[in-house]
Amino acid sequence: MNQHFTSTVETAEQAGATQQDVVRLVELKRRFGVTAALDGISLTVRKGEILGIIGRSGAGKSTLIRCLNGLERPDSGGVFIEGREIGRLGERDLQPLRRRIGMIFQHFNLLSAKTVEDNVALPLKIEGRPKAERLARAAELLDLVGLSEKAKAYPALLSGGQKQRVGIARALAARPALLLSDEATSALDPETTRSILALLKDINRRLGLTILLITHEMEVIRSIADRVAVIDAGRIVEEGPVWSVFADPRSEITRSLLGAIRPQLPAELAARLLPAAGAETILRVDVAGEAASGPLLSDLATAVPGAFRLVHGGIDHIQQQPVGTLFLSVPGSDANRLADIITFLKARQTRVEVLGHVANPV
Ligand SMILES: Nc1ncnc2c1ncn2[C@@H]1O[C@H](COP(=O)(O)OP(=O)(O)OP(=O)(O)O)[C@@H](O)[C@H]1O
Ligand SMILES: [Mg+2]
Repeated sequence: MNQHFTSTVETAEQAGATQQDVVRLVELKRRFGVTAALDGISLTVRKGEILGIIGRSGAGKSTLIRCLNGLERPDSGGVFIEGREIGRLGERDLQPLRRRIGMIFQHFNLLSAKTVEDNVALPLKIEGRPKAERLARAAELLDLVGLSEKAKAYPALLSGGQKQRVGIARALAARPALLLSDEATSALDPETTRSILALLKDINRRLGLTILLITHEMEVIRSIADRVAVIDAGRIVEEGPVWSVFADPRSEITRSLLGAIRPQLPAELAARLLPAAGAETILRVDVAGEAASGPLLSDLATAVPGAFRLVHGGIDHIQQQPVGTLFLSVPGSDANRLADIITFLKARQTRVEVLGHVANPV
């Protein structure tokens, strides 16, 4: 758990823990030669949630997903889907369990020789369902993803976003309990990505579908995931509600993965920073939850008299939680006053960092 920003996190965690887990991984290990692709992963995906998994290339994300749908056998540890351990099942018993899992891919994996509706109905055909039922279900799903008019079209005529909608409809055909997404929006432009994410969130809400998504795009996690797990060298290095992990990443890996979307001091100001004392001290103050919604700055002004200025930053919202970064400039070289300001801010559950000093006021 994060050392800061814990107030509303605990209750959400507790509420979730009472729900049924769709996926439970226990001490999962998988080695390829000298590489420990999975090095003791324990993780649960709760019913109805969207869990995001992020990690650098080679961290073990795809191996994790392959262990989940039974394409890869772990060396040790357990994979439980809706309470059933898949490692104990033979190929015949694995098939029906695999149907409880839908999957969408970066490159859509549609069959080009089949129409959109036949692509969507394919899982049902494999299941041996009658044609009328297959077509009715395909029509229902194409309506859900907003592509009814493309039922008779072939994939080659569709845009990337439309292809992924077909991929989503196909993944849902057999009414899975879990949707796995491995970089499903990585090949799409930002606007199409947003529309696909909105669709996934809508399906998650409307059908209560549990989603596990792997991505290297932090925006994807920020916009639709409830919880995030950060994986590195086959281990989970950090896990928690998205707003909390994004507001207060504990590991260096998470910080570097979040890099681009974490607020930064404008480059021209950062270039002026000096390590030694100058006319002003620049502080980075990360705030979330109560600290971000309360009158933090006016309280600071009352508690520690004297000037300070907000030079950059603001408050954003993740999962309806206020999360932000304030860059403050404190004039003068009074070390005691600076220490008082930092003490006050830290007591308000913020994370404070002295970024440096500037010779002239900014
Ligand atoms: N079949 C395999 N044989 C040998 N090594 C493998 C195999 N599959 C994965 N690995 C190794 O295991 C590690 C984890 O690979 P994995 O594909 O799970 O990473 P990833 O997190 O999905 O990376 P990316 O973001 O690049 O897709 C890597 O070092 C990879 O080289
Ligand atoms: Mg991968």
